[in-house]
Amino acid sequence: MKLNAALPVLVATLLAIATQSAALKVGYYNDKKCAGVEPIVRDEVYKTLNYDRSKGAALVRLFFHDCWVKGCDASVLLNPSSKNPYPEKVAGSNIGLRAFDVIDKIKARLEAVYPGVVSCADILAFAARDATRYLSDGHIDYAVPSGRLDSVVSRAKDADDTLPSSTASFPDLKKNFGKKGFDVEELVVLSGAHSIGVAHYPSFKDRLAAPGNEIDAKYQLALRNAAKNKSRTVANDIRDESYAFKRDAGYYTVVTGRKDYLNNTYYHNAMDNRVLFKSDWVLRTDAFALSKLKEYRDKPKEWDSDFADALVKLGKLLPAEGKGLLEIRKKCSAVNTY
Ligand code: HEM
Ligand SMILES: *[C@@H]1O[C@H](CO)[C@@H](O)[C@H](O)[C@H]1NC(C)=O
Ligand SMILES: *[C@@H]1O[C@H](CO)[C@@H](O)[C@H](O)[C@H]1NC(C)=O
Repeated sequence: MKLNAALPVLVATLLAIATQSAALKVGYYNDKKCAGVEPIVRDEVYKTLNYDRSKGAALVRLFFHDCWVKGCDASVLLNPSSKNPYPEKVAGSNIGLRAFDVIDKIKARLEAVYPGVVSCADILAFAARDATRYLSDGHIDYAVPSGRLDSVVSRAKDADDTLPSSTASFPDLKKNFGKKGFDVEELVVLSGAHSIGVAHYPSFKDRLAAPGNEIDAKYQLALRNAAKNKSRTVANDIRDESYAFKRDAGYYTVVTGRKDYLNNTYYHNAMDNRVLFKSDWVLRTDAFALSKLKEYRDKPKEWDSDFADALVKLGKLLPAEGKGLLEIRKKCSAVNTY
């Protein structure tokens, strides 16, 4: 590319870096006279979840995986390209990530009304909030500080080096969260997100052979039966499993409600040794974490509000200043060309 063509973009990028260093602000787009931004995101998320509720869990996880790796910068949304064949999206630790189509749809709608204004990182933060609100029937709700920018860097290796593993020990998890400024209580609070969504075989196969103290025997039997089909996903929350699975597991709690209801069931499962991942189980191995599991089992409203606070905090992880260029992408799956 010729320098004269690149210059305006360079200037725009430098301005963008300057903006990012300012703090995020609730109502950022209202201040920019774009008051339709958050309503458009909500409308699209609600429309999507009305016909496929399962995408709500996917949006919440996308947000976590975006923010955990180099801050909330939409780096997780980038597709492989000839220049960058291994973006975060293809990392092993990003197994099962989905709902990219929802973000793309929202972006297209916003570009039609407010071209070049809304970052993909903000769209994801709003969409995750709207999904939690929807899936909790409004019990979990919070204002989202915004004004993020999108990065042009995305590497699978960064995701694999940064995201916690489903086979992590408690000390691993504590260290992993500590690096991001999250304490053990927040680790326990955020793990409650596993009351929704599904997992693929590689994420829980170790649990099929876990020793008896780490997993309820009947739940393990149900998992083994389900895993005879390795393509089958398993619900993170036994509450949302099939009738056959629950019968195998001796889980007699009658649930007539919808799947993927975002509440504190995770903590009931944890105390009953019926959580899916080893990383869920190990929370019981630490006395303080265990006391928090019990607390959130017994105080559903406290979990709702602590979970909301933790998601706001998650959204404040930002790319380090000056590290790489930032922009407002035109499409969330690709960097702007310059
Ligand atoms: C504590 C460390 C964590 C570990 C080790 C972990 C691990 C995993 C794994 C292995 C899966 C299944 C992926 C698959 O096989 O498809 C999963 C799913 C999920 N995780 Fe986590 N996770 C953690 C924390 C979190 C946090 C902090 C959140 C959000 C606040 C979250 C939200 C979700 C959701 C919603 C799903 C279901 C996604 C879907 O249905 O598409 N997880 N997690
Ligand atoms: C295995 O699970 C996949 C995904 O749910 C399903 O499409 C397929 O029909 C299942 N195969 C068998 C043999 O049940
Ligand atoms: C969580 O939601 C499910 C589904 O609506 C419901 O059956 C269950 O009672 C709730 N759990 C708690 C602990 O309130």
